[in-house]
Amino acid sequence: MKTIAVVNLKGGSSKTTTTAFLAHAIAAAGRDVLVIDSDPQGSTVRWSDAAAWDIPTVALPVKNLHTRVRGIARPTTDVVVIDTPPLLENAGTVYSALRAADVVIVPCAPTSHEVDALPDVWAAIEEVQALRHEPAAAAVLLTRTIPNASSTGVYRESIEDSGHHVLTTVIPRREAYAQALGAPVRELGAYEPAAAEVLALEVQA
Ligand SMILES: Nc1ncnc2c1ncn2[C@@H]1O[C@H](COP(=O)(O)OP(=O)(O)OP(=O)(O)O)[C@@H](O)[C@H]1O
Ligand SMILES: [Mg+2]
Repeated sequence: MKTIAVVNLKGGSSKTTTTAFLAHAIAAAGRDVLVIDSDPQGSTVRWSDAAAWDIPTVALPVKNLHTRVRGIARPTTDVVVIDTPPLLENAGTVYSALRAADVVIVPCAPTSHEVDALPDVWAAIEEVQALRHEPAAAAVLLTRTIPNASSTGVYRESIEDSGHHVLTTVIPRREAYAQALGAPVRELGAYEPAAAEVLALEVQA
């Protein structure tokens, strides 16, 4: 079983949207997925209820996720995807999600506002690595990109230059994603190749 945590310091950085679409894309690839909503705001669980997801989704806004995930997963669960609250507001919960994770996905827009905040995410991951037997794999997923804008390449390069992995797939800014919360997750779009990359990362982890 592999555990993927979707983490960012910033509120409103596409964590919940990424959790929902990534979980559905991984399920569409034939995996048995469990979603854990560790954000006390509970948006993922509400979305799952409202749209009657086939993917089981549980609320678990606690600081000991790393000791709880295995007990909550079913015997058949292959992949757990954890949505997290913003790091600053619920650091304990996010740290425990980082401890639970084999793979950390950091959704981030190609803007100075979001990219400049990434070092705090790397610091949190680094802090938690010391508590783990094996390091987690971590990668940025560029989201809300504007098609053909140079910002995508510019910020990709700056994140890679700082020594961090950026998924090849990017998620465009789209009205369909902006309006997705609460609606059935159908058009997976770029989240499909993103899920394939994330699953490949888990193999290397
Ligand atoms: N690719 C996209 N294109 C357009 N809008 C998007 C995209 N991804 C996310 N959004 C929108 O951005 C906003 C923030 O997304 P989301 O709720 O997923 O972020 P979050 O990191 O989970 O926020 P919070 O920190 O409040 O939990 C939402 O209105 C969402 O619909
Ligand atoms: Mg959220």
